[in-house]
Amino acid sequence: MCGIIGISSNKPVSANIVNSLKKLEYRGYDSAGIATLSNGKINEVKSEGRVDNLENNYDIKHLEGNIGIGHVRWATHGIPNSVNAHPHSSHNVSVVHNGIIENSTILKKHLINKGYKFKSQTDTEVIVHLITDYLKTSELVEAITKTLKQLHGSFALGIVFKDMPDLIVGARRGSPLAVGYGPNENYLGSDSYALKSMTNKITYLDDGEFCILKKDQVLFFNDEGKKVNKKILQLSSDESSYDKGDFKHFMAKEIEEQSITIKTGIKEYIDNFNKEINIFNFPWKLEDIKSITLIGCGTAYHSCMMAKYWFEELTSLDVSIDIASEFRYRKNRFKKDTLYIFVSQSGETADTYAALDLCNKNNMKTCSVVNVIESSIARDSNFVLPIHCGPEIGVASTKAFLGQILILYIFALKIGSLRNEVQNKLYQEKIKDLKTLPSLIEKTLLLDNDIQAISSTFNEAKGSMFLGRGYSYPIALEGALKLKELSYIHAEGYPAGEMKHGPLALIEEGMPVVVLAPKDSYYKKTISNMQEVIARGAKVLLITNKTNDDVISENIWETIEVENTNNDLLPFLLTIPLQKLAYYSALKKGYDIDKPRNLAKSVTVE
Ligand code: M6R
Repeated sequence: MCGIIGISSNKPVSANIVNSLKKLEYRGYDSAGIATLSNGKINEVKSEGRVDNLENNYDIKHLEGNIGIGHVRWATHGIPNSVNAHPHSSHNVSVVHNGIIENSTILKKHLINKGYKFKSQTDTEVIVHLITDYLKTSELVEAITKTLKQLHGSFALGIVFKDMPDLIVGARRGSPLAVGYGPNENYLGSDSYALKSMTNKITYLDDGEFCILKKDQVLFFNDEGKKVNKKILQLSSDESSYDKGDFKHFMAKEIEEQSITIKTGIKEYIDNFNKEINIFNFPWKLEDIKSITLIGCGTAYHSCMMAKYWFEELTSLDVSIDIASEFRYRKNRFKKDTLYIFVSQSGETADTYAALDLCNKNNMKTCSVVNVIESSIARDSNFVLPIHCGPEIGVASTKAFLGQILILYIFALKIGSLRNEVQNKLYQEKIKDLKTLPSLIEKTLLLDNDIQAISSTFNEAKGSMFLGRGYSYPIALEGALKLKELSYIHAEGYPAGEMKHGPLALIEEGMPVVVLAPKDSYYKKTISNMQEVIARGAKVLLITNKTNDDVISENIWETIEVENTNNDLLPFLLTIPLQKLAYYSALKKGYDIDKPRNLAKSVTVE
């Protein structure tokens, strides 16, 4: 979390820093700040809240200086206020920081004993004073190398110095950091998204590296302070995707874009002519894979859950799933014949990356399903399956979820076919059905008015539940996550069959309960569970699929019918009303839909 930008130029940089910070707000938005260098001084301004506040509080565009750093924060150490906002500065050094310094308490004691005074509650300030201290006795490269060696934890840093007014130092360990190259200026950014409006020429720092960036030169160093050469990458340009267009929110746009997401995914992976799934350059022999472990966080974890059902249905492989923050600290039994699949929209989620790193260190087979193909997770996996859904800006993951489950479904189907566990006729039928999915999604997206009306009941309730069985269970969890994340309403997802083992006690008169009951093999069982909650006073919103069979139940509060398709693909359609429910509920409450409280798009701290 948190976003860093740095610019060294031959013209004033503050306006560009502010624009870039606005783009980086998806990484954190509880405070923001800038430091520029001019006339032998550090000009530091910072505010609580959004970048807009910073602009309203200061005449930022007239802040002097051809060199500067900026930051948007997602608080880890110290409450979100202007004192704890970055940059943090001494008389000579100013620092912006992403990540966490785990040994900051010990370092702080040591620095206080040396006479340094701390203004904030952050862990970042120790970096400022450490560098200031080392610079008393060492030249720049040595001072940086020594400082970085003292720090435990993960970080990306941007640093400017009053006495060296032509350079910015960038450093990376754990948290991503990139350098961008422009005409007569160079940039530092915590991701390529912030840099893309200024350049498409990028170099990513690797873990342990730092750089000295001037307007016309960038030098890179390893953790011993030795110079290293780095490649410059050319990024694709897709600026238009960063625009809301006529939509009120990015989330609304991203929900509506889902038929395109699925169309693009199908185009990328399905060969229409040969009616075949194309997954090229798969680096292992299929017979060397006996089991699959899928790992992710949040919505990406729900994609893993969904994939487990499909892999188990379409192959005889052993499949397990894990939440990345649990996986990374468990005593894992690594097995050579397991394929570890990491699912992540951003490709930068700290826990998912750490889980991947652990597998790489144990020489496991690693594959990632990611959206951002320049990301750390994509770069460090043995094999990548991109989801091709374009930038997702809203903090709530919507089109990336459908993109992830599409690729995982296609992958499961392909493996099932290669292992002769899905016979060719069925394989062809499933591919044919897949191709109808974009138009079914388009039709399901039209279910708008009904959901808008229904969302008021959820807003009035103390809490809500989302129930499903089988393929619908991960979707129930995803629906509950979306509602709590956006409208701050307590929402729990449960396997419908689990209700009588405890959660049924929560049901009271008028409580809204979403029941996902498509007419699949679980249908009758789920409907019985639905009756049990209705009998206890719940207001049930039933989401099912359109068929000729009537719903065999009474006293349902509301019913929404999605389009009909084969059982494998129904989860795609069932997801859409749940995304809209969360969206409209937050809209009615007047909440900040694209930036819900306490969250950030890219969770780069554990
Ligand atoms: O970028 P990732 O897919 O790795 O992110 C994982 C989660 O942080 C993310 O899905 C989160 O749960 C979303 N905000 C949910 O909408």
